[in-house]
Amino acid sequence: MSLSETDFDYVRTLVKERSAIVLEPSKTYLVDSRLTPIVRKLNLGSISDLVARMRSERFGEVHRTVIEAMTTNETSFFRDVHPFEAFRTKIVPELMAARASERALTIWCGACSSGQEPYTIAMLLRDSFPELGNWRVQILATDLSTEILDRAKRGVFSQLEVNRGLPAAMLVRHFTRQGLEWQVSEALRNMITFRELNLIEAWPGMPRVDVVFMRNVLIYFDIPTKKDILAKVRQLMRPDGYLFLGGAETTMNLDDAFERVQLDKTGCYRLREAAERRPGYATA
Ligand SMILES: C[S@@+](CC[C@H](N)C(=O)[O-])C[C@H]1O[C@@H](n2cnc3c(N)ncnc32)[C@H](O)[C@@H]1O
Repeated sequence: MSLSETDFDYVRTLVKERSAIVLEPSKTYLVDSRLTPIVRKLNLGSISDLVARMRSERFGEVHRTVIEAMTTNETSFFRDVHPFEAFRTKIVPELMAARASERALTIWCGACSSGQEPYTIAMLLRDSFPELGNWRVQILATDLSTEILDRAKRGVFSQLEVNRGLPAAMLVRHFTRQGLEWQVSEALRNMITFRELNLIEAWPGMPRVDVVFMRNVLIYFDIPTKKDILAKVRQLMRPDGYLFLGGAETTMNLDDAFERVQLDKTGCYRLREAAERRPGYATA
């Protein structure tokens, strides 16, 4: 289906206003390929009809479906490996020592997609830190897309998805086969709270967090939006907490309150002011 400039502009503005995702003019093919299935599902003739329908209705289900279709949900278990290695070997032991009296840890995945990231964290905690069994451990997993969150909550993954990054031993330990698919154990699902949260709106009811995974989402936003979100992350993070971004993302030139620290083969971010007061302070 071909897309007119005005229809593209309508979609681009809608998506930018509601999700902050920036669609460059070179992305018309993407709009075309992502909206064509919606056109068919709604029995419309063209993307132009879809846009006309959205223009004529108040913001609702169709608009939401279009916005969600324009999000990129690419993810995998243990994506990039090294952040999870640093989380397991350095960060969790350090935070367990720091939180020994309160016995509570809160981890937030701020754009969790279909759930591979929070399930990876849950598996690591369960396998490597049995002593956390009598702590209050909260893994909060949020995303803009309700459709993808439903998938994440169900915790059912295809063979292809479990083949990408999930060690065989973990597959056996935490999943059961269901026909051609794999179901995550109830124990893991119970460790995670899935919730809808649009990063560009208010974040009501969010707890203070020890570790934030906000990976591969800022990349879709413009600079003012990235700055706003990082400022909000900063408010939520405990002073000695950690922030992970995606490999192509950084706080540099966006928010000076963060500093990059190197942990073995991965970089992550901490709050600068708090770090300067820590013994043995050193940055990457
Ligand atoms: C590429 S995935 C990243 C998944 C995972 N963090 C990872 O690194 O594998 C990006 C996710 O960001 C979500 N997203 C996009 N815009 C968002 C927004 N404004 N608020 C919350 N989530 C958003 C999308 O729905 C999508 O699931």
